[in-house]
Amino acid sequence: MISPVLPTYNRAPLAFEKGEGSWLVTTDGRRFLDMGAGIAVNALGHANPDLVAALTAQAGQLWHVSNLYRIPEQERLAAALVEATFADTVFFTNSGTEAAELAIKMARRYWFEKGAPERHEIVTFEGAFHGRSTGAIAAAGSEKMVKGFGPLMPGFRQVAWGDHDGLHAAVGPQTAAILIEPVQGEGGIRVVPDQCLKGLRDLCDRTGALLIFDEVQCGMGRTGRLFAHEWAGVDPDIMMVAKGIGGGFPLGAVLATEAAGAPMSAGTHGSTYGGNPLACAVGARVMEIVSDPDFLDEVRRKAAFVRQRLEGLVEAHPDVFEGLRGQGLMLGLRTRVAPGDLVAAAYEEGLLCVPASDNVVRLLPALNIPDADLSEAVDRLDRAAGRLDAKG
Ligand SMILES: Cc1ncc(COP(=O)(O)O)c(C=O)c1O
Repeated sequence: MISPVLPTYNRAPLAFEKGEGSWLVTTDGRRFLDMGAGIAVNALGHANPDLVAALTAQAGQLWHVSNLYRIPEQERLAAALVEATFADTVFFTNSGTEAAELAIKMARRYWFEKGAPERHEIVTFEGAFHGRSTGAIAAAGSEKMVKGFGPLMPGFRQVAWGDHDGLHAAVGPQTAAILIEPVQGEGGIRVVPDQCLKGLRDLCDRTGALLIFDEVQCGMGRTGRLFAHEWAGVDPDIMMVAKGIGGGFPLGAVLATEAAGAPMSAGTHGSTYGGNPLACAVGARVMEIVSDPDFLDEVRRKAAFVRQRLEGLVEAHPDVFEGLRGQGLMLGLRTRVAPGDLVAAAYEEGLLCVPASDNVVRLLPALNIPDADLSEAVDRLDRAAGRLDAKG
């Protein structure tokens, strides 16, 4: 018999009732060190007092009004994002998938307004993940995601990872935009080299195609910069953000230059909940904390600290680990065992981490995780790997 919750997830038999910082407590009182942070969502840890205060203060004032009216909390967060980034304008959503939908619409509308609606194609990359809507699965195009859901939305062209010739062949007079994650998350923590992001920017400048960065997973301080593309020193025309920006409250955004955003005039897009006062009050506080240069310095320092320890872990268990990849606190352990086996062994040691494609287990801790918790996480991973060594 089907469960009351539609069984689209293979869930671990763990239910949590309380969280504090980087720790979660199950309903039966077991403590887990959380190196997944709700898949890069709880950027400031669980029950962060600043965010609890921002949410509860707003909850006592006003929960929701329609986007038919001005929303001061939304305007405040938009101004902060514009101030801190390439963007001139922002649309708020409730999720990364909704941000993907708008990014796709925006790129098409841009060319429609320019009198070239035939430029509707969006070039994407193998291993990409942009969400689960019909548009987002067509964009990513992986067999696993699209099987059984056809006919797919047309107008996407996938390029193999690292295939420069394929990329140049794919971009042409039909191309509206190139869409890429500066660091692939679900695809296995694959960092796009800086030269490649620069090359994409050049290609877009030469052809007029818009450049869209999906920073849903790698943005909001995760890599040690506010946004991952800052490492390469190139700006997109459109950027998708979600996950960390709400610190656990559902919130996403599409950021755009004036040129890319202006064609989305009144009536072309909308959302009942997107940018609601509760979400934006929390988002504004997250943004204040995460965009502080001292906070980002600390993320980079913590990243260097844990990276060094993880390199030792990889060396100590050559039959379990093949290597370490990633940037900042977006780290991937490439495994020689099935990633699910390592994740399961980590559960036994009271540690949460997240599997990804390409034989990778992701570590995506809260960005403010104490050094002691990072050390404890590596110790627990060491014991988890030891369980697999012993089996091997
Ligand atoms: C890079 C990227 N884009 C888009 C999404 C979709 O976001 P959401 O699950 O909030 O719809 C995800 C989610 O994992 C993601 O990692």
